[in-house]
Amino acid sequence: MNKTRIGIDAGGTLVKVAYQEEDQIKYQTFPSRKMDEVVSWIYDSFANHKICVTGGKNQVLANKLNFPVETMVEFDATSRGVGFLARQYTLSLGNDFILANVGTGTSIHYVMDGEQQRIGGTGVGGGTLLGLSYLLTGKIDFNEIVQGSNDGNRENVDLKVKEIFEGVAPPISGDLTASNFGKIGSLIQEKPSTSDMLASIIGLIGETVVTICCQAAHRYHTNSIVYIGSTFRSNPLLKNIIEEYTILREKRPFFLEDGEFSGAIGALLTLN
Ligand SMILES: Nc1ncnc2c1ncn2[C@@H]1O[C@H](COP(=O)(O)OP(=O)(O)OP(=O)(O)O)[C@@H](O)[C@H]1O
Ligand SMILES: [Mg+2]
Repeated sequence: MNKTRIGIDAGGTLVKVAYQEEDQIKYQTFPSRKMDEVVSWIYDSFANHKICVTGGKNQVLANKLNFPVETMVEFDATSRGVGFLARQYTLSLGNDFILANVGTGTSIHYVMDGEQQRIGGTGVGGGTLLGLSYLLTGKIDFNEIVQGSNDGNRENVDLKVKEIFEGVAPPISGDLTASNFGKIGSLIQEKPSTSDMLASIIGLIGETVVTICCQAAHRYHTNSIVYIGSTFRSNPLLKNIIEEYTILREKRPFFLEDGEFSGAIGALLTLN
């Protein structure tokens, strides 16, 4: 009997699993704080398997399994998985691109001919979305936060450039954000709604990430920026903010379907 190949990316917040069944790759996700569930799921689901684990918590998981597993460097696994998904969805990313992995934090890479180089990052990421949302609105569930942001109005929270430049034309587009949350300290009359705050938190994260990525693309002379990470899951507002700003800066944004599984796929692909 063939062994099932299983790639696992044990991240700071979520454990992503990619496993091969016949010709298909299937996915599974678990919270990283429930590592024991991952272990029992593996024992219950597969009789015969080989496993490669990556991600910051790879050793936590490896130590809980009572058989040896392979491990690999997360960044290499991720860029390999991105290449695989791009081929699967026939997306032409070109020879080189910026890769932004918006996970718990955000890691930024330059990928050239399939080889990645980590070029930067920011602590502003999906963990920030959960943390600030909880502190400001009491909501902690990711899906509730994202849905709650849907009808939010960022103009009740964020200050635009045109609101600073009164009576004169601004030197840059007046619709750009001059200050995330900047209206609270100056112009605001009433406390913004929960939805407004959630939308503005997503705005802060999206604009921070996209600004760094566009600068990176400029520095590395590439036009393409690939965005992955579970923070984009069912999160149209984050995608829109990042997409629009990337295009405004004359770069091409790509959002990979199943992109959050890139690390797990890359780990799976190293098993033969
Ligand atoms: N079901 C969920 N539970 C918690 N967070 C979720 C969920 N779905 C999406 N998210 C979002 O995805 C983020 C985690 O993204 P991802 O899985 O890519 O990161 P990670 O691999 O765990 O972290 P890192 O790569 O930084 O170690 C969370 O911070 C949250 O914003
Ligand atoms: Mg990760």
